[in-house]
Amino acid sequence: MAKIKSVYQCESCGHQTPKWLGQCPSCAAWGSMNQTTVGGPPGRRERDSEGANLMRYGSIVTEETTRCSTKLGELDRVLGGGLVSGSLLLIGGDPGIGKSTLMLQVAGNLQALGRNVLYVSGEESLAQIKMRGERLGLDADDLMLLAETSYEHVENAIDKDRYDVVFIDSIQTIASSNIPSAAGSVTQVREVTTKLMNIAKSRNTSIFLVGHITKEGNIAGPKTLEHMVDGVFYFEGDKYHSLRLIRAQKNRFGPAQELGIFQMGSDGLREVPNPSKVLLEQRPEASAGSVVIPTVEGSRPLLVEIQVLLSNSTYASPRRVTMGIDSNRLALIMAVLEKKAGLQLQGLDVFVNVIGGIAISEPAIDLGLALAIFSSFRNLNLGGDIALFGELGLAGEVRSVSQAGLRMKECLNLGFKRVVCPLANAEEKLDGVTVHGVATLVDALEFVL
Ligand code: TYD
Ligand code: MG
Repeated sequence: MAKIKSVYQCESCGHQTPKWLGQCPSCAAWGSMNQTTVGGPPGRRERDSEGANLMRYGSIVTEETTRCSTKLGELDRVLGGGLVSGSLLLIGGDPGIGKSTLMLQVAGNLQALGRNVLYVSGEESLAQIKMRGERLGLDADDLMLLAETSYEHVENAIDKDRYDVVFIDSIQTIASSNIPSAAGSVTQVREVTTKLMNIAKSRNTSIFLVGHITKEGNIAGPKTLEHMVDGVFYFEGDKYHSLRLIRAQKNRFGPAQELGIFQMGSDGLREVPNPSKVLLEQRPEASAGSVVIPTVEGSRPLLVEIQVLLSNSTYASPRRVTMGIDSNRLALIMAVLEKKAGLQLQGLDVFVNVIGGIAISEPAIDLGLALAIFSSFRNLNLGGDIALFGELGLAGEVRSVSQAGLRMKECLNLGFKRVVCPLANAEEKLDGVTVHGVATLVDALEFVL
């Protein structure tokens, strides 16, 4: 017989402990342990299982998933080829980055395609939404709007009609009156999302949830939120630049890590057919410390410019400032440069910037970053038509990366005719590109000298 026990469960990750703790030992969240009961009357499990819907694998018939376009090709690609009906999707991003703008544009587009769409905002009044719509040139008179923060009212509104798509902006502002905690709390977000998930699955309604993100860049609310939904997408970019990237972090209906690129203009978000060109537009002709690197996110190649500036430091511990790359990556590459190429970098301030306000995390930037540092150190211009990619190992070896052919093709499209890459990738070369394969960092430095 299963005994009813009282335990403390973390609201964020679900970890259970017999005693109350201030910090969850599993996910390190503070103040998230709440008392709950586990176990139940005897035989309950057995009774429940009688109704379980057992099926033979072979007898399951799969339906063709129906997808519909959002009329934004970049978003469709990130979704895996369009919006799947009945899917629950979470879009996170910094405040002011353009989440509401994107959602309203998509809502308008879907309505214009004849879908029945409801847009719920807990953040803006109906007049504010209309003003935004006018700015975006929205042509969707039949789009249904609701300015509401009560979950029960939202559910009633959804019940009134058969909606194909529902937008909730944002999940942190909608609260159920049956749950005692405040809107945006871990319990509210989890419970409201669970209810919305049931609606999405039982009625085959696609639901977009806008999510706020925390200082660390994660979606605010329980960690389990990301497990519950079908897709998690991050809307990124620098507020001071016009480029906006949407990245699939999880997608049950398409490839993860896929990237879509938009430009924010005075009339909303527009797709960017050639983002590499936009990023390289203002590149200085001949400048030491500037390199061009072909990166690939999902299936999307993107040429980015990285600039490095070294200067004598006036501080006892020199400054290492990075924008758009991880500072640990910089530390690692500097250590390899010092140890394997004998560069004396101590005593120098190092500033690294990825142009366009983009963040790059893939290791294929290592070789380019190392050569940008070297180029600034020696005040050496590498040339306007050269691009570099490759991962650096701690022994100074240059390791191969994926999708080399795609990277080279993008280089060629934008007029970069010389490419330095890992030796193992050099055979994927294209006509029109002079490829120089390197096995070690020292080989690469010798090549550019
Ligand atoms: P918004 O979608 O409200 O951001 P979020 O919902 O992520 O907080 O976007 C707000 C910013 O976008 C604001 O600074 C104004 C700018 N913007 C434009 O540049 N052009 C436009 O057409 C619109 C609607 C907004
Ligand atoms: Mg908003």
